[in-house]
Amino acid sequence: STESAEDLKRLIREIPDFPKPGIIFYDITTLLKHPEGLRRTVDGLAAQLQGIKVDTVVGIEARGFIFAPALAYHLGAGFVPVRKPRKLPAERASITYELEYGQDTLEIHRDAIGDGHRVIIADDLLATGGTAKAVVDLVESLGGKVVGLVFVIELEFLNGRRRLEGYDVRSLIKYQS
Ligand code: PRP
Ligand code: MG
Repeated sequence: STESAEDLKRLIREIPDFPKPGIIFYDITTLLKHPEGLRRTVDGLAAQLQGIKVDTVVGIEARGFIFAPALAYHLGAGFVPVRKPRKLPAERASITYELEYGQDTLEIHRDAIGDGHRVIIADDLLATGGTAKAVVDLVESLGGKVVGLVFVIELEFLNGRRRLEGYDVRSLIKYQS
């Protein structure tokens, strides 16, 4: 509910001008260290997905690894990591995507997702949506079906949802600026 989202918001530390002038950094470490805050965040993510049948929760290195395994455990699903380059040992699928400045690459094990597996993608933050969209493409390239994406924080003013049109996008805490 909106009320519990407001409670969680109070546990997020806002750091002005980080990492650069004019940007507010929403720091979740203060939420994570709070026992009730952490529990309600993970429960809240799971509640967003009620009624969706899930085989696998895919988490995105690094901050997605804080939430995705806890969510998978909660849902009775498996956890699959999407990692930064050259970390995964077995056969990989890679995707390179554009950032505001430059590009980035993410990788997944080819055998991590089976044909038709129902996948939730989880991360701490939806900003421009570039990262999430790259992971959608990775999962689909392996035959997975993305049944939803879930984020702790959504920066609505960056319109990340637009990059994810046609997908079920959920978030716990929204910021307008
Ligand atoms: C941050 C955040 C998301 C992504 C969102 O990750 O954790 O994964 O950016 O941005 P986008 O919607 O514009 O793609 P970052 O790459 O900074 O690194 P980290 O998770 O390893 O800290
Ligand atoms: Mg990240």
